[in-house]
Amino acid sequence: MRDASPQTVYLKDYTPPEYLIDQIELHFELDEQRTRVQARMNVRRNPHSSADSVALKLWGEELQLLSIAIDGRPLQENEFVVGDEALIVHEAPQDRPFEILIENLIDPQANTALEGLYLSSSMLCTQCEAQGFRKITWFLDRPDVMSRFKTTLVADKAKYPVLLSNGNKTGSGELENNRHWVSWEDPFAKPCYLFALVAGQLACVADQFVTMSGRRIDLQIFVEQHNVDKCGHAIQSLKNAMRWDEQTYGLEYDLDLYMIVAVDHFNMGAMENKGLNVFNTKFVLARPDTATDSDYEHIEGVIGHEYFHNWSGNRVTCRDWFQLSLKEGFTVFRDQQFSGDMTSPAVKRIEDVNALRTRQFAEDAGPLAHPVRPEAYIEINNFYTLTVYEKGAEVVRMLHTLLGAAGFRMGCDLYFQRHDGQAVTCEDFVKALEDANGVELGQFRRWYSQAGTPVVTVEQDYDAANGRLQLTLRQSCPPTPNQPVKQPLHIPVKLGLLNADGSPATFEFAGQPHTEVTLDLTAAEQSFNFGNLAGKPVVSLLRGFSAPVTLQMPRSLDELAFLLSHDSDTFNRWEAGQQLATQAIFQLIDSIELGRPLQLEPIVVDAYRRVLADAGGDLSYQALLLALPEESYLSGQMPVIDVEAVHQAREFVKKTLAENLAEQFLELYRQYHRDESGCFDAGAVGRRRLKNACLSYLCKLETPDSHRLAEQQFRAARNMTDQISALAAIVNSRHPDQDDCLDSFYRQWQQEALVIDKWFTLQATSSMPNTFAKVQNLMRHPAFDMKTPNRVRALVGAFSQSNPLHFHAANGEGYRFLADRVIELNALNPQIASRMVSGLAQWRRYDANRQSLMKQELQRIVATDHLSKDVYEIASKSLA
Ligand code: ARG
Ligand code: ZN
Repeated sequence: MRDASPQTVYLKDYTPPEYLIDQIELHFELDEQRTRVQARMNVRRNPHSSADSVALKLWGEELQLLSIAIDGRPLQENEFVVGDEALIVHEAPQDRPFEILIENLIDPQANTALEGLYLSSSMLCTQCEAQGFRKITWFLDRPDVMSRFKTTLVADKAKYPVLLSNGNKTGSGELENNRHWVSWEDPFAKPCYLFALVAGQLACVADQFVTMSGRRIDLQIFVEQHNVDKCGHAIQSLKNAMRWDEQTYGLEYDLDLYMIVAVDHFNMGAMENKGLNVFNTKFVLARPDTATDSDYEHIEGVIGHEYFHNWSGNRVTCRDWFQLSLKEGFTVFRDQQFSGDMTSPAVKRIEDVNALRTRQFAEDAGPLAHPVRPEAYIEINNFYTLTVYEKGAEVVRMLHTLLGAAGFRMGCDLYFQRHDGQAVTCEDFVKALEDANGVELGQFRRWYSQAGTPVVTVEQDYDAANGRLQLTLRQSCPPTPNQPVKQPLHIPVKLGLLNADGSPATFEFAGQPHTEVTLDLTAAEQSFNFGNLAGKPVVSLLRGFSAPVTLQMPRSLDELAFLLSHDSDTFNRWEAGQQLATQAIFQLIDSIELGRPLQLEPIVVDAYRRVLADAGGDLSYQALLLALPEESYLSGQMPVIDVEAVHQAREFVKKTLAENLAEQFLELYRQYHRDESGCFDAGAVGRRRLKNACLSYLCKLETPDSHRLAEQQFRAARNMTDQISALAAIVNSRHPDQDDCLDSFYRQWQQEALVIDKWFTLQATSSMPNTFAKVQNLMRHPAFDMKTPNRVRALVGAFSQSNPLHFHAANGEGYRFLADRVIELNALNPQIASRMVSGLAQWRRYDANRQSLMKQELQRIVATDHLSKDVYEIASKSLA
């Protein structure tokens, strides 16, 4: 057990900083085990603080103090105290600005938590968000303290020829003993979470970008030498992002240099440090033969995301960490818009909603549910969540919908202009949008403070005599931890009506003719009237998924099939197909649970036959129409999750469709299968997506022909999308040469860490029997490493989060396995350990037997010695 239960931090306790640090000069003598840090800080009392204590508290952890002086006078031992979390100077000067000089030591090599300064392969790098800077030196580590940084790096020239930090390079030189130095200066004041340094033997891929005002910006991507041939897509994505932000938001880059460094060991995706982004290699490196089309898409999205943070995050930052969604929700919304514009808005929207509904909705319905703006945390790193990021982006998207593109842009302009250089709140953002548009968004604000996914139900009443339709919408929201009672939200509901022949209906709403409207649902129950109708229309509701809610609208299979054929809204067309498949699968689940024979409704087969015949020419979209709802999405709708029945029913649908439509699947496969070297253009991506969707159906036939088809594609593939899709089909079937294919893939790619991650994940997510034994063996594979987060996610994360069938084995072996890994990781890397706990958090959703097994493992985790705050918070809240 922990010695003392860790402290909770509350939003309501926020007070402005008592001191400010206007400038900091950092001097690093870099060394793997003994890095010496000198920090010279210009400190003064904050005129806006009303606190009257004279003490100065600087946060710092795992630091070894060498010296401390104020205005050149070394402090005596009785003038300060150093604790586990902070250094307190008992009496700081009150009447004048003063200078503190601190010298300390750190050990990057011992830093397996990958927070602060650490060693990744042979390079030194930093991760400071949220509170990693305090592992570098003692500081006012909070985002509302903004300082100008000057940084000098000194290191061995052979080991660390490249020395980088934020801003512009201001000098460099040689020193004795083969050492050298480089100095950097960032002209923009920033919170310390945006500080970064990198040192290593790095190759640089360079390019340039000319901004809208004609300034020439140097772009540099730093990678290990053997990866220089995998940076083209990242550079192109960066240039696209820079242009897009100028065109869409009028925002221009502000420094003369933009650097990105790719590192193998990284807890998250990437980090927007000012002028010096540090990225997980996964979101930089791509070559057609090593990266899939979806890897290419993710790289584009994350490069965009970190770039967009330069304004939404860096120029305007967060006052405190409760406001995290101010920068993250907004920036995710911006990267979603960008990716949609670069590829297909329709496809991108479906992918985003799919991720939101399968993953964020589960978080919102479980013990870890929290508002987009949380009110309390134990460990802030636990709040980099799907809710803060993805639901936060949905909240910004709703503001965009409510204000319209032009109104939203005016609001953003005002926000950036009003708050440039400041650390602000979600409230400041909403206020700027209100002020710029002269509107009032009072009730809308509840989206920031109220957790949980609202449920919207619909009642239809058609009056044939008068050609009128009345829709009654009701909203409710289930209770979440600490929020038993919910208030109605302001929900924008986009609607269209279809005539009996499938054409869009023109209707009268609020006295005006329309073909589409956005309804403002603000009350718990509200009715809306639509007139001038020639016949009973089919309602297309929540178009584009205009709000992050669960829509409950009883529909017949016929009506869903009709919408799948005719809805002009691309999202709702896809959604009709998903609901059609969902209903069919739930009917089968009932049959399974009642021991009845399984039969798929012919109308479902017919609907998919039509999708295969024609989907309007966008092949990626057609592939999405063919994809059955994921097991986790289906499970989310069951009062008690039956993992086996869900899997069996979904497989049955897939197999039945494959049997009934085999010829069409094969024909489409042949039509689009080419021997492609794999360039990332919309045409080739669409062909591959559709063809590989067909292949995965065909493999369900388990015929020698289908096995041969997959193996041929696997052996001949010259691009990773085709190779891995074929291998996935093989691994998830009873293909006789499965092991041989896996071995040859490993031999081919053993030098490429990111490809080997895929190899681990494929095996960890297989639905075939014996998967758990394979996972256990893979833990002992020489390429497995608990200190590499990508590897842990590829094996432990994939198994526990993406293999419900085997992870939830009724004997509890999956749960025990995961808890053991969490306990091991807790000692190495608390952030990664705590992410892994999520596989157990949803225990209440399962049967009594599984509930008790999962709970038992959570209890075992909570009882572990030296439990980190990270794991303690997630495990204990999961049990509560
Ligand atoms: N701000 C980064 C991003 O753009 C995430 C960094 C979070 N890191 C962490 N350790 N909590 O998404
Ligand atoms: Zn971000």
